[in-house]
Amino acid sequence: MRDQQRARVSMSKQLRKKRVVIKLSGSIFSNSARSESIKEYGLMITELNRRVQPVVIAGGGNIARHYIDLARELGSDEASLDILGIEVSRLNARLLLHSVSSRVYPKVPTNLDEVSIAAETGEPVILGGLHPGQSTNATSALVAEKVKAKLFVNATDVNGIYDSDPNINRHAKIFKMVSIDKCIEVLGKNSSMAGKYDLMDMVALKIIERSRIPTVILRSSVTNIVKAIESDTKIGTRILV
Ligand code: UTP
Repeated sequence: MRDQQRARVSMSKQLRKKRVVIKLSGSIFSNSARSESIKEYGLMITELNRRVQPVVIAGGGNIARHYIDLARELGSDEASLDILGIEVSRLNARLLLHSVSSRVYPKVPTNLDEVSIAAETGEPVILGGLHPGQSTNATSALVAEKVKAKLFVNATDVNGIYDSDPNINRHAKIFKMVSIDKCIEVLGKNSSMAGKYDLMDMVALKIIERSRIPTVILRSSVTNIVKAIESDTKIGTRILV
């Protein structure tokens, strides 16, 4: 490579915004969702893109679970049920695309190579699931690994990771910070049936561990997500890697 060309490549790398991967809970797109709230997330993507490059993964939510439950009753195998869930999360990603009025990568990538190509444009990227057998959380961890994200924000419908199930134990305590080993211990026993992957599945945890991806799990709201990305405010649970 000639000197001039090399200098240009290194300059474009320096100018590249830091990437942040944001998993948005499927509950945002549930059948009771309002367009105003989806619009807020669209505006958030535009705002964040002034300083970082958001790569956003939409979850499947209760619409995915509804389809999965119906197809399970019809006798579908688990892999096909996963594919149904992926299709719904991609539909949610498409819906989110409609809420972004500024520049955004116009297509929903369907594999990791496409995610890389999309991310290289510097525009915000929005996608859903990628591979059967995992959750959109695992997909998000893989994407964070692939695009070398400086942060993975898992915006979900709980406040963070607890030492036991807060739905069962009302004395359960939330971790402000937790080691990845402890996370694997607490969350590792979760379900691996289509539509029933919990807060973080094992695939997600192992990817976070192997690539030391700084990760925050928080209750999804525009305010919380922006705080986690742009301020030092401690919010949700931070996984120490
Ligand atoms: P989600 O991971 O979004 O599940 O995908 P969820 O329970 O709705 O999570 P939240 O509520 O958004 O946080 C729905 C289903 O789609 C399949 C799985 O069966 C998953 O449970 N799926 C999704 C995959 O198999 N692979 C993917 O990459 C994504």
